[in-house]
Amino acid sequence: MLKIIDLHAYYGKSHILRGVHLDIAQCEIIALLGRNGVGRSTLVKSIMGLVPIKGSINYKDKEIVGDATHDIALQGIGYVPENRDVFSTLTVRENLLLGVKDKNAKAEWTVDEMFTLFPNLKERADVLASALSGGEQQMLTICRCLMGNPEFMMIDEPTEGLSPQMVETVAELLKKISSKGISILLVEQKLTIALRLASRVYLMGHGKIVFEGTPKELEKDNKIRKEWLEV
Ligand SMILES: Nc1ncnc2c1ncn2[C@@H]1O[C@H](COP(=O)(O)OP(=O)(O)OP(=O)(O)O)[C@@H](O)[C@H]1O
Ligand SMILES: [Mg+2]
Repeated sequence: MLKIIDLHAYYGKSHILRGVHLDIAQCEIIALLGRNGVGRSTLVKSIMGLVPIKGSINYKDKEIVGDATHDIALQGIGYVPENRDVFSTLTVRENLLLGVKDKNAKAEWTVDEMFTLFPNLKERADVLASALSGGEQQMLTICRCLMGNPEFMMIDEPTEGLSPQMVETVAELLKKISSKGISILLVEQKLTIALRLASRVYLMGHGKIVFEGTPKELEKDNKIRKEWLEV
């Protein structure tokens, strides 16, 4: 579904991604792990066309490097950034409706389906998004992204700063999304939910992929984990 070959990304003179390779198949959940500042968010922003890059990103057999961000979104790639940017002066329902990308398309996801997927939002449908807890705002941004009917979703650190209970709720939501046939690139810093949800894991260090394998293989590899993950 997505194939990245020798990707380089730059902020001015800083060379941040240094030859990244990554593959995602249909219906797969892939975890992208790594310490602070190694370039995980830069990689998802690069896929979204938000950062100057060199290299190849092939999505559904089409090269998307150079495409505008809104075109990339319309091709079916959804992006949930790390800062949970809900529209705070709008209600939960209005936030969800803003996620619709193509008003003429046969809607595959409806607001009611979002409420079934995450019942907490239903009770709060007409409440301002600013009144939600951090965890609920995170769920709302994920559900708003789903309203655009993505086939592939990139979700940047959804569990950061959440209570253990809310982390479980997010994990359940991601499982449900995946069961609908949507591929997910899950960016995380901790192993917590990543190893449980992902079929394969990529570990990033200094702008490169330093490990690629199954969650079991990563668990067994103490050396790699110590060097690139644990402090
Ligand atoms: N807009 C920017 N301009 C210049 N440098 C940037 C910019 N955004 C990020 N960087 C730098 O690029 C490097 C990678 O940042 P990135 O946000 O991709 O890291 P990350 O792996 O997502 O980590 P975290 O989310 O924990 O910060 C860091 O050294 C960061 O300081
Ligand atoms: Mg980041």
